[in-house]
Amino acid sequence: MIHEKIEQLLRTAEEFLPRAAQEVEDFRIRMLGKKGEVTALFEEFKQVSAEQKRELGGRINALKNDVQERIARWKEQLENAEQIAATDDLSRPGSNDRLGARHPISIVKNEIVGIFERMGYTVAEGPEIEDDHHVFSALNFAPEHPARDMQDTFFIEKGENEILLRTHTSSIQVRAMESQKPPIRVVCPGRVFRNEAISARAHCIFHQVEGLYIDENVSFADLKQAVLHFAKEMFGDGSRIRLRPSYFPFTEPSAEVDVSCNLCGGKGCNVCKGTGWLEIMGCGMVDPNVLEACGIDAKKYTGFAFGMGVERISMLKYGVRDLRLYFENDLRFLSQFESAI
Ligand code: PHE
Repeated sequence: MIHEKIEQLLRTAEEFLPRAAQEVEDFRIRMLGKKGEVTALFEEFKQVSAEQKRELGGRINALKNDVQERIARWKEQLENAEQIAATDDLSRPGSNDRLGARHPISIVKNEIVGIFERMGYTVAEGPEIEDDHHVFSALNFAPEHPARDMQDTFFIEKGENEILLRTHTSSIQVRAMESQKPPIRVVCPGRVFRNEAISARAHCIFHQVEGLYIDENVSFADLKQAVLHFAKEMFGDGSRIRLRPSYFPFTEPSAEVDVSCNLCGGKGCNVCKGTGWLEIMGCGMVDPNVLEACGIDAKKYTGFAFGMGVERISMLKYGVRDLRLYFENDLRFLSQFESAI
């Protein structure tokens, strides 16, 4: 009888599966409480013969220990689980990590480069630290040209071969002309540096995308078509352009390009300052002196070049009023571009 009871209680303890701390406590009382089933076995034990006692004593004690150990383990597990459940809702849906966003300058730079890539241009890059030859001399800047002045250029080494931070990415175009044979069709994105006071409209670091196309019979009409196509892709199909005569040492003739204001449709607003036009880039036919300085036969080949500021295009596209926002990395500004690829 008593043997069977011990077996049966061992099995009960083994099969018991508590789901809450309270169930463990109830089980403890049922087994080990004053009127508990294990406690009752100790009462029964008093009645058995001395001979049986020797064998049974060990077994009943083992049963008691087994039940006690199980109870202690269950308690610990369930109390932990209940604590976690009380502080954390395990049924709560998981939250995704927030995705980062591209910087608006990168977005616009990629867009500009993409438009020209689709017209057959390839990307060319070059060093930010340059020499006088690639930034000025090869581009037909006269020795006394004001752009070479300390006021505009950050010099690293003055003297014979001056080392400086490039003031435009035209230096990449010089490198392209020196290392490739026409036809050449490159777009040159990159950071440029000018010694200017920082304000809402100017910064000492900014980004440019410049472009160059050299082949036989390249004309000003080709330049106009390339720029018009770019303007339509960037600012919308209805965009118009106008070219105003201008001057750059490396192009002749030279022009500034305006695009019809995409905000007011050309009627005049405060972004275009009532004119209906926004200035977006400089351009022109590559000066024969530049072609010759870069080892290209100016009698055989002609070409056009253009250059624009990425910050400026981005300001016009997104209606950003202060250039400094692009450099401050304020998340309230940057996160507005989160959905853009
Ligand atoms: N390099 C000029 C600048 O930095 C832009 C430009 C490029 C103008 C090519 C004409 C042709 O302002």
